[in-house]
Amino acid sequence: MAPTGDNVVVSNMNLERMLSMKGGKGDASYANNSQAQAQHALSMLHLLEETLDGVQLNSPEVPFGVVDLGCSSGSNTIFIVDVIIKHMIKRYEALGYEAPEFSAFFSDLPSNDFNTLFQLLPPLANNGGSMEECLAANGHRSYFAAGVPGSFHRRLFPARSIDVFYSAFSLHWLSQVPEIVLDKRSKAYNKGGVFIHGANESTAKAYKQQFQTDLAGFLRSRSQEMKRGGSMFLLCLGRTSSVDPTDQGGAGLLFGTHFQDAWDDLVQEGLITSEKRDNFNIPVYAPSLQDFKEVVEADGSFAINKLEVFRGGSPLVVNCPDDAAEVGRALANSCRAVSGVLVDAHIGDRLGEELFSRVERRAMSHAKELLEKLQFFHIVASLSLA
Ligand SMILES: C[S@@+](CC[C@H](N)C(=O)[O-])C[C@H]1O[C@@H](n2cnc3c(N)ncnc32)[C@H](O)[C@@H]1O
Repeated sequence: MAPTGDNVVVSNMNLERMLSMKGGKGDASYANNSQAQAQHALSMLHLLEETLDGVQLNSPEVPFGVVDLGCSSGSNTIFIVDVIIKHMIKRYEALGYEAPEFSAFFSDLPSNDFNTLFQLLPPLANNGGSMEECLAANGHRSYFAAGVPGSFHRRLFPARSIDVFYSAFSLHWLSQVPEIVLDKRSKAYNKGGVFIHGANESTAKAYKQQFQTDLAGFLRSRSQEMKRGGSMFLLCLGRTSSVDPTDQGGAGLLFGTHFQDAWDDLVQEGLITSEKRDNFNIPVYAPSLQDFKEVVEADGSFAINKLEVFRGGSPLVVNCPDDAAEVGRALANSCRAVSGVLVDAHIGDRLGEELFSRVERRAMSHAKELLEKLQFFHIVASLSLA
């Protein structure tokens, strides 16, 4: 569990120890607020399958390794791993080859709710049978599963052991809020702001540098872990404007408007000091295609098979778009599912509750506008070893 208190500044190594999406199966849990991510991933399945078609098929004696980096807890990761493995089995079968055994690694930071995830895993199919029998065994999984705790910005697996890396909606999370963004003496100090949307140029530059340093660490690690002939499919929040990182697009609307205003409410109502608010920053950066490409090219280990920005759609999934209360609740819950753990660690559960009730109220009174304007764009990258 992440520490809950009122004195934790979200920076440096703290973040790696405490960051997780909201665990469990409650109303504000990630498991119950990730339908939008599921839909966006589904709309890009054909791109994932294209990547999988490029993966080299090896001897059936060597296990085939699949990894989901930033898997979180909930059914999205289980669905995707199943898609990947079924697709690969089909490819083996189409060529008349015997399929290998599959290992699936669910990887995330140590505070991730792996327990909820493991409870959602279907039982292993009868492993005395053939792969075809496994596939036929509906509701069963045809792979061995393991959880791998640790940061994807560093090494997680033995060298040359993994065939397919997948990561969705995770790489935009930074390893830390850049120190200068929290330093009052620095030009990059994000005074008044809890996100870089609308911040000054120096703050945005610090975030961009942090993103690029983090992505470089990610690529360096994967280039050692991936088998020759393997592939990687990456999907993360992105932005369409290449010039101005202070316009964070959909992420900007999520964290830079009602969420920001709710923090300001707490300050104005005397519930927290302005300094307390200024010490909190959301460690997310939605890169442009150019930001992303520069790092892949500088690393040089990967060939780019695809690198594009796609429109993913709205993060709000509601039954009744005319019901402003439902829209307000959906926005507050989406926001809380991904940032609630950090908020609670910074100001405690009680004030966290106050904050998100204000997000909900504010979002409710802008429901129509939110449904019209809140759109996520994603960077999609398909990479293989150069
Ligand atoms: C929005 S969730 C994505 C979940 C899932 N991939 C999906 O498609 O629904 C982002 C996940 O990235 C994880 N994450 C963020 N930074 C990470 C890091 N440095 N190493 C590993 N996981 C990280 C978070 O803990 C979180 O579970």
